[in-house]
Amino acid sequence: MIVLGIETSCDETAAAVVDSERCIRSNIVLSQLEEHRPYGGVVPEIAARAHVERIDGLIRQAMVAADLGFADLDGVAATAGPGLIGGVMVGLVTGKAIAAAIQKPLLAVNHLEGHALTARLTDDLAFPYLLLLVSGGHCQLLVIEGLGRYRRLGTTVDDAVGEAFDKVGKMLGLDYPGGPAIQRAAEQGNAKAIKLPRPMLGREGCDFSFSGLKTAVRRLLDKAPDLPAADVAASFQAAVGDVMVDRAANAIQMARRIHPGLAHLVIAGGVAANSHLRQRLDGLCRERGLDLVAPPPELCTDNGAMIAWAGVERLAAGLHDPLDAPARARWPLDPDAKSMPFAGRKA
Ligand code: KG4
Ligand code: ZN
Repeated sequence: MIVLGIETSCDETAAAVVDSERCIRSNIVLSQLEEHRPYGGVVPEIAARAHVERIDGLIRQAMVAADLGFADLDGVAATAGPGLIGGVMVGLVTGKAIAAAIQKPLLAVNHLEGHALTARLTDDLAFPYLLLLVSGGHCQLLVIEGLGRYRRLGTTVDDAVGEAFDKVGKMLGLDYPGGPAIQRAAEQGNAKAIKLPRPMLGREGCDFSFSGLKTAVRRLLDKAPDLPAADVAASFQAAVGDVMVDRAANAIQMARRIHPGLAHLVIAGGVAANSHLRQRLDGLCRERGLDLVAPPPELCTDNGAMIAWAGVERLAAGLHDPLDAPARARWPLDPDAKSMPFAGRKA
């Protein structure tokens, strides 16, 4: 079974071809970093326009790289949400058009399901496992119990963690995006130099909050603008690390109450590239007898392969979607979970 996957929910235009043997035949991502850099965040209108301008050429490229024609496809998967609605509509409408033209099933994929199932594509992981999804738009802990069975244990009540990294980076005058820049700066800094709050630490459950931490950095810099950026970066990263470990520890406990044999914690999303956070989570996993699974960075950040793979899994389960499937700005994976707004990194 061969599926084309299309991803346009934020600031990456992406297309990939993946098959049911877990082979990624092609995987092409066009980043819009340069378009958004002057604004220090994603501007939804600019993102939507950039997707429109590139999507057809990109899909052609993905098909050529896979050495396939459209007639070889068994289905077309496109992200249908959650995300910036203009971009989601571009990718979904394109996917619908191709599916209609070649008369093959459409898979309207939840972007979060793409992230959630990636570890099955890369590591052939069996259900259930715990997922920490940390990106510019999301910060959630979920138990992935089976296809279509996702139990959200916790989420951010305000900003996504990547958004906090990006905003603190901006305050420090670092390069955009702030995440990688903070990691680099932190390597030269003293993580104990500055006292910062650890929101939610020690609290029951595993929700996150980052706006208080972000505001604390803002106040600090207002009072002492000459503080070494490296020390602020290192102290901020350490605070985020403490919070992550505390929340993930609670999630492991909660998940094991339901699945006593739980053996894997998967991390995904752009922030999963952070080596300090990986180290901290790896320590936690060792302590609790779990394996930390981290798909390669290019499959942790937004990409078309994860959407194509979610399409493969859905198609294999006999699922597909009608051609009038809606684009959704909000779409929680867990239907019981309260719908949270897409905490996008808008400028
Ligand atoms: O998953 P992603 O590529 O895109 C979406 O959010 O949709 O994640 C991007 C986020 C940005 O906020 C970026 O600053 C953050 O991931 N990020 C990092 C690192 N690399 C990327 N944050 C912390 N440390 C990093 N090394
Ligand atoms: Zn994502």
